[in-house]
Amino acid sequence: MMFWFAAGASFLLALSILAVADGRNLIKLPSEARQFFGLFDDSNGDANDDTVGTKWAVLLAGSTGYWNYRHQADLCHAYQILKRGGLKDENIIIFMYDDIAYNEENPRPGVIINSPHGEDVYKGVPKDYVGDDVTVNNFFAVILGNRTALTGGSRKVVHSGPNDHIFIYYADHGGPGVLGMPTNPYLYANDLVDVLKKKHASGTYKSLVFYLEACESGSIFEGLLPEGLNIYATTASNSEESSWGTYCPGDNPGPPPEYETCLGDLYSVAWMEDSEIHNLQKETLRQQYQLVRRRTANQNSYYGSHVMQYGDLKLSMENLFLYMGTNPANDNHSFVDNNALYLSSKAVNQRDADLLHFWHKFLKAPEGSVRKFEAQKQLANAMAHRTHIDSSIKLVGKLLFGIKKGPEVLKTIRPTGQPIVDDWDCLKSLVRSFETHCGSLSQYGMKHMRSIANICNAGIKQEQMAEASAQACASFPSSSWSSLYRGFSA
Ligand SMILES: *[C@@H]1O[C@H](CO)[C@@H](O)[C@H](O)[C@H]1NC(C)=O
Ligand SMILES: *[C@@H]1O[C@H](CO)[C@@H](O)[C@H](O)[C@H]1NC(C)=O
Repeated sequence: MMFWFAAGASFLLALSILAVADGRNLIKLPSEARQFFGLFDDSNGDANDDTVGTKWAVLLAGSTGYWNYRHQADLCHAYQILKRGGLKDENIIIFMYDDIAYNEENPRPGVIINSPHGEDVYKGVPKDYVGDDVTVNNFFAVILGNRTALTGGSRKVVHSGPNDHIFIYYADHGGPGVLGMPTNPYLYANDLVDVLKKKHASGTYKSLVFYLEACESGSIFEGLLPEGLNIYATTASNSEESSWGTYCPGDNPGPPPEYETCLGDLYSVAWMEDSEIHNLQKETLRQQYQLVRRRTANQNSYYGSHVMQYGDLKLSMENLFLYMGTNPANDNHSFVDNNALYLSSKAVNQRDADLLHFWHKFLKAPEGSVRKFEAQKQLANAMAHRTHIDSSIKLVGKLLFGIKKGPEVLKTIRPTGQPIVDDWDCLKSLVRSFETHCGSLSQYGMKHMRSIANICNAGIKQEQMAEASAQACASFPSSSWSSLYRGFSA
């Protein structure tokens, strides 16, 4: 009980800090921008000839749990945009756990929305890979078009040829060098980039665009994705910051009152709300990047992140149409950069969106109800897991490097342009050692990947890591957050 009060008090404090910013901000951009971008349009006519190629898309939401509503909402919304853009279901491959639409917490059963007044985006979404078929292995097999490597699912793969264009969009939690999955193991950046290189080597696409929403998502490509693969990627954040949820309870605009969860993510909503109102034959990837970057920065406030771009930046001169098609209803809506941008007043750090959900559930539940007790327990468990993971990592650092040097090693950030670690096998084995003794890092604990990478970079071997972890973690909390079923260790 003592713990609950302490945790509750500090979370209340955090909420009151969140509440300082308020009001909806509208930005109108000068008309010069319109002229500038207008000129931009005319300069890339034949680069966008698309009479031969097929458009393929792979969409993946990596999370489970109602508190992660927003990732699957983002994904379903993306599907609707591509579908209206003219892509065929046979060319769109969907990965989602599919536990949201009919979740008992969902106030509108069978419906998923991605914005406060948004329509249902769940309707018609193909269920190619759902539940435990949402795996790293299937994701890679789909991209590579390798049916033999699949387990379960619809068996749909990117069966692309040399003239085709591929769009990959991923939304979930992440951490330095890793992306979450609803199943075990998570996805490591070097493995993803290796798959992209392999795809390139197979000569089965003309160009590929990757949009990535996750915390520290820049770290997935930074120092890893080379030029020359005909891949252009943008990420929701740089390699050392969180990405942000939006349309969250308490935000303005926020979700309808019956929703106790964020409806979308800032970067994702920014590109989708831009794509769905324009003639995408007249808007370039670069124009969208610039708009999304401004909206996601959220006026460079604390509640925003830096959208980054990687790979072959020259591809950004191409039109979005090559990847997303275009909705004929928008034929007369060319991109003009004078849209009023809706800025989120209180975007929520992706890592705190689960706490926010439990907290609103707790506040709204009737006094003395089972629901109130359950919400209290969920919040307490999530906080206990965080405290346990944070303090265990710190202690491991001190055991390995000493009281003074430990924290320094863990906090080190390598210069821009370098990957977080050189030896990825070392990183994987140290993560396994840590999880064996200390329990799953789970979605929150992914933030510590940089510390574990630094331990590798300092030359620590698996036996030393195992010994330090065993000392640091005599036991770990028995909640579902610690379960090794969710995490890195297979
Ligand atoms: C496809 O996957 C199978 C099973 O993992 C593997 O043995 C095979 O080499 C792969 N094929 C290609 C072309 O990569
Ligand atoms: C676009 O404008 C043209 C010319 O005014 C018109 O004929 C056409 O119906 C419009 N298209 C749409 C989708 O509104």
